[in-house]
Amino acid sequence: MADLPAPTVPALASNVAARLANASVEVKTETPLLPRAAFFLISVASLVGVYFTGRLHGLEGVGLVWRWLHFWGLALTSGMLAWRLLYLRRSESGLSDERVGVLFRDLLGRIGVLRRFLVPLLLVGAPAPWFVPYLSPWQAAALTTTSLATALAVLGAHERRSAAFAAFSLGLAGLALWGWSDSAGLAPLAAVRTVHLWAFAAWLGGALFNLGAAVPAGRRNANLDAVVAGARQLERFRWVVRTALPTVILTGVWMALRYGGVASPFWQAGLGLLVPLKLVLILALVVIFITCPLYRACSPVRGVCNLEDLEPVGR
Ligand code: HEM
Repeated sequence: MADLPAPTVPALASNVAARLANASVEVKTETPLLPRAAFFLISVASLVGVYFTGRLHGLEGVGLVWRWLHFWGLALTSGMLAWRLLYLRRSESGLSDERVGVLFRDLLGRIGVLRRFLVPLLLVGAPAPWFVPYLSPWQAAALTTTSLATALAVLGAHERRSAAFAAFSLGLAGLALWGWSDSAGLAPLAAVRTVHLWAFAAWLGGALFNLGAAVPAGRRNANLDAVVAGARQLERFRWVVRTALPTVILTGVWMALRYGGVASPFWQAGLGLLVPLKLVLILALVVIFITCPLYRACSPVRGVCNLEDLEPVGR
């Protein structure tokens, strides 16, 4: 039997293509403010959390900030690689394989750029556990090794999926190890604290990927297939934030209630005031999460925030 001619694959899924037939891609030069503000506020909330826990464990001075750097490096790495491993696709249904492939390679290239910042951060943070007196030597050694191994794996994370998976898993394992070490052997507390830290990592690292990879790669790929692929990736990440937000609040409130009831004087002065401060920060982040898509402020590429923006006005 003679070979049938190969079907021509439309550049865009037929229903999307019909709606977007006359659309053109617009790209702004400035990076939107709201995702940068979210990244900053999540980092501040984590610093506040690490400060609170550290002070309650008797830590002071440089050790506190150094310990936070350790956390921050592990969280940025694992959350960023979650995007690379879970939300990013080499091809997207109904879209041109070639154009989505170019976007995919550009995004991996941007991970290669981001690793130049993550590897030194992980190396600088690695010795921090040795300055945390309440850790046992094996806990400090395990945490330092995890940070160094994560740095090593990140080196190849843009080229090899296996390296990305190793760095992602090591980052999560490091956070779980902190969760356990900070909880004095109380298994329920260690579990809740670890979930709090993982939700923080997924949110923070995803925000880093959006700003440091998705935005610049989206600018370089100003075509409809890349915009639709970018919008789908962003929507996958939004689902992660929709889960991380309540998780961080519920686990955080659960941990806070161990120190006193809602009306306890502990929350009204000194260290205790940091927890209401966290509630204010989380409220600001909720506002950003809601307003970002409303004002189309998640990406400088029109349509990535909301595909409907590509449709001609008046349709
Ligand atoms: C974006 C939001 C948030 C981030 C990034 C975040 C991050 C963190 C981090 C990194 C820690 C340090 C854990 C450790 O050192 O072992 C922490 C601890 C803590 N967080 Fe959050 N957090 C957030 C929101 C909240 C909220 C909304 C609450 C609830 C009011 C909360 C309550 C707590 C408490 C009570 C601790 C200390 C637990 C303890 O030491 O026993 N957090 N958080």
